[in-house]
Amino acid sequence: MALLKRRLIDAREEFQANGRGLVRRMLASAGDSGGAPSREEEHALAAVTANGGGAALRGEQLRGGMVSVEKADGRSRAAGATPLLFIAIFVSVALNVALAHLLHRYASHPAASPDKQHDTCVHPDTSREGEAARVGEPKYRSASAPSTGKPAVTQDSVINLDHGDPTMFEAFWRETGDAAEIVIPGWQTMSYFSDVSNVCWFLEPGFDQQVRRLHRTVGNAAVDGYHVLVGTGSTQLFMAALYALSPPNADGAGEPMSVVSTAPYYSSYPAVTDFLQSGLFRWGGDANSFEGDSYIELVCSPNNPDGAIREAALSSDAGKAVHDLAYYWPQYTPITRRADHDIMLFTVSKSTGHAGTRIGWALVKDREVARRMTKFVELNTIGVSKDSQLRAAKVLKAVSDGYDVDEEDERSSSGARHHRLFDFGRRKMVERWSMLRAAAAASGIFSLPEETTGHCNFGDETAANNPAFAWLRCDREDVEDCAGFLRGHKILTRCGSQFGADRRYVRVSMLDRDDAFDFFVRRLASLK
Ligand SMILES: Cc1ncc(COP(=O)(O)O)c(C=O)c1O
Repeated sequence: MALLKRRLIDAREEFQANGRGLVRRMLASAGDSGGAPSREEEHALAAVTANGGGAALRGEQLRGGMVSVEKADGRSRAAGATPLLFIAIFVSVALNVALAHLLHRYASHPAASPDKQHDTCVHPDTSREGEAARVGEPKYRSASAPSTGKPAVTQDSVINLDHGDPTMFEAFWRETGDAAEIVIPGWQTMSYFSDVSNVCWFLEPGFDQQVRRLHRTVGNAAVDGYHVLVGTGSTQLFMAALYALSPPNADGAGEPMSVVSTAPYYSSYPAVTDFLQSGLFRWGGDANSFEGDSYIELVCSPNNPDGAIREAALSSDAGKAVHDLAYYWPQYTPITRRADHDIMLFTVSKSTGHAGTRIGWALVKDREVARRMTKFVELNTIGVSKDSQLRAAKVLKAVSDGYDVDEEDERSSSGARHHRLFDFGRRKMVERWSMLRAAAAASGIFSLPEETTGHCNFGDETAANNPAFAWLRCDREDVEDCAGFLRGHKILTRCGSQFGADRRYVRVSMLDRDDAFDFFVRRLASLK
């Protein structure tokens, strides 16, 4: 097709370049056979050559194989001209029509062109040129479909297990039909406000209700007497808590409040605490080496990165604690007690796997702390997406419904009974931890934290701790940087130093899709 196009262009260019000479030759030959060019023939010559041949034909019309030439008075008459002139003009018209047709096809069907190969070399999501070239091309219409996160992996891929992206849960939600679907009409969720009578005025009542219901179902946290606050992820509520618990320091003369956590601590704690260089609070490091009475201690349990069950390390009247219970759910750990701390943070990212919905919540005992945390979210983002809250409410409802089946459902083994998120999650995590431990043993150069067990009140059974991350240590003497060593084998993990720990440790996400996890354990087992 490209060759044909090139030939047509060449032919037209040749015609345009030689048009005057060609027409002259034709006219001359006509003259040879019938005398000097007539005035009409000269007129035609001027018209054909004035604008390179092709465009000059605008004033000409083909009528039954005869060319008529418009006269200045608008009337026309048959040129009664030389056949060669007709042929020349006809060839020119044909070439232009063919070229226009070809260009039209080329513009609207880029896939038909070998130039398309350039497109395939361009990353589909980042190239503006690529996008422009793909407009109207059916093959690429799926570009408007929702994103799916990281691309699928193959045996030789780089396996990225640096982030705790909870795509493992997709398989569960694919099976739940419309249980977690919502439709939001165009006129809904338009106001900034949700419930002006609530201390958290942007909290959707339906989300509040489902949060309380799920905690009652699981028994992992007290909700009676607590304010529910919603945030754009629990990350925003973590910042809101720092703001609410720090003395105002209005004149900037006081010392910022120290924010501490026992190492190894979640790598975002220092990063998020210090990234705006607040005058109110500042990262103070490992809680175990902190000296002083005034602090905010972040207690993550089960802990990110090592899965340990944690209590506050510090105790003082002036000290405050924020309990990050993102992983206190039955798929990761036995639910041994109903937590009832002053401030508890949760997130759909880790409980249901909906990290992209960006919804977290806080259970807060004290009304004034709840008010100040709400103020932070108000100043930061003027509330939290109501669309996301509605979706999160529906997702939480689907989870609770799965465990809220009546006896008839049980007997008929139908309905929601089959869609039990924590059963799915626990099964997966048990399987993955057993695969990982087998791979580490086969390799012989890695060690993992000991498995711990406890009685799970939720499942009423003894259950093991199956953390969302593996805190992997490379025991080989010559490997001081485990993340670097694994990177050399195309496995991306997060270095221990980011958690206030040794570089021989890395944190590995256990929540990726099956294919990535399978390739990871196979590759790990082969490392000696
Ligand atoms: C302990 C802990 N807290 C909070 C978060 C962030 O949650 P969100 O996605 O809701 O901001 C994470 C995410 O990895 C986490 O591990």
